[in-house]
Amino acid sequence: MGSDNLLYKVEVDSVNKSFYRRDGDKFKLLKIVEDLSFTVSDKEFVVIVGPSGCGKTTLLRLIDGLIQPDAGRISINGRSPSAPGPDKGVVFQSFRLLPWKNVLENIAFPLAIQGLHKEKRMARALEYAKLVGLTGFEHSYPHELSGGMQQRVGLARALAMDPEILLMDEPFASLDAQIREIMQLELLKIWSQKKTTVIFVTHSLDEAVLLADRIVLLGPRPSTVKEVIDISLPRPRWTYDVKSHPDYISIRAYLWRRIKEMVATPESIPEMYTEPQIQPLIKESRPTTSQPTTD
Ligand SMILES: Nc1ncnc2c1ncn2[C@@H]1O[C@H](COP(=O)(O)OP(=O)(O)OP(=O)(O)O)[C@@H](O)[C@H]1O
Ligand SMILES: [Mg+2]
Repeated sequence: MGSDNLLYKVEVDSVNKSFYRRDGDKFKLLKIVEDLSFTVSDKEFVVIVGPSGCGKTTLLRLIDGLIQPDAGRISINGRSPSAPGPDKGVVFQSFRLLPWKNVLENIAFPLAIQGLHKEKRMARALEYAKLVGLTGFEHSYPHELSGGMQQRVGLARALAMDPEILLMDEPFASLDAQIREIMQLELLKIWSQKKTTVIFVTHSLDEAVLLADRIVLLGPRPSTVKEVIDISLPRPRWTYDVKSHPDYISIRAYLWRRIKEMVATPESIPEMYTEPQIQPLIKESRPTTSQPTTD
């Protein structure tokens, strides 16, 4: 079947993933995502929101094919995402730049793997460096850049690949408020031109409502989809003051209430906010075995 006939671009179907976690000299199996399902249509902008540590990065790594689910199925264009490839551009939470390459070379690097001729890839790298506001720093090395600038190199690198699917893990988290707003609108403009399918992780409810066609709200670990919220705010959203739109205000307030409810669940509070402090208590109260155990 050709990808044009597919109902969904990305399908996450009843996915389970656990990791072994070292607990003293033992290993314990920690469930990260459980029975997690959602779909993403072609050219849709889906934003994933959920508490810290609930498995958002893990979910993007599963979709990218970097890791495999323990159970359930993920498909991209109807096929299993076997390996990272040029169909998917990823903006990682950590910048993952090559320290021995300058800004242009970092942006152009995946284009070489795509087989683009050197002149073309340097021209494209220059275009995207400009787009993310790095003009004047094209020949700087990562250690010479601020965290926000490094994050913009990562963003330019993914955008320059012009991928079918963009997986973005808090791509604006290290930017100051002003640049963050500029980059959000730039991303919306690029997406509206290219109509790439985007899966975007953020902790910012404002960012989620501003960008999304739909918001997938995840619960605390082991996380599953709590709710999928349609955002039907008119597009293009850079032509008016979205944040004063009544729908924006009510959706944002609703999301905040839902997240507060989750945080207010007694068992989720330690997981989300005080894990380092309570870890020793958990360790003492749990029976230890030499075999891996499940939660
Ligand atoms: N490779 C791994 N091996 C063992 N545990 C892992 C691995 N990757 C992630 N984890 C654990 O899985 C859990 C979820 O991690 P993940 O990074 O997916 O969360 P997150 O929702 O992206 O968090 P944040 O919002 O802080 O970025 C964490 O408890 C983490 O320690
Ligand atoms: Mg993460």
